[in-house]
Amino acid sequence: MSHSIAIPVTANKRELYRELALQLSGLLEGERDPIANAANMSALIYHALPDVNWVGFYFLKQGELVVGPFQGKPACVRIGLGRGVCGTAAEARRSVVVPDVHAFPGHIACDDASRSELVVPLVQGDRLVGVLDLDSPLPGRFDEADRMGCENLAAIYLAAFREEG
Ligand code: SME
Repeated sequence: MSHSIAIPVTANKRELYRELALQLSGLLEGERDPIANAANMSALIYHALPDVNWVGFYFLKQGELVVGPFQGKPACVRIGLGRGVCGTAAEARRSVVVPDVHAFPGHIACDDASRSELVVPLVQGDRLVGVLDLDSPLPGRFDEADRMGCENLAAIYLAAFREEG
């Protein structure tokens, strides 16, 4: 089956995330493979959101975060829990919005162009699966609307393989 994705064009952030949620649901429908879905989801978000230079996944493997499917420049492969923005969000199991990565102690610079970042933890039941990470070359790029929008996209991703087994 092939998917033809029309990237939404709208100035309204909430509307954009509503559209993206619908597109993501369609894109993941009938497919439970976590890597395949993460790959398509990264591509969808990367191409739909303005001013992002990295969008992708880190998965928790044997106690550390390991890079998964993404769009953007090559990234650091392993991040310890509690380290960087990703490890902080993973350890706390809550989203972290960083308006200025240079002011975040312990920020891990993968792409020098990144100036702000949003990390959403992926938690299924009581199990931490990994994180969804978005970077922007613009300071202060991510706000509450982005956090809520991306948390909703993360929930759609997790729901796609909830009953696998
Ligand atoms: N900046 C992240 C590392 C991952 S890259 O941005 C892709 C961090 O501090 O955890």
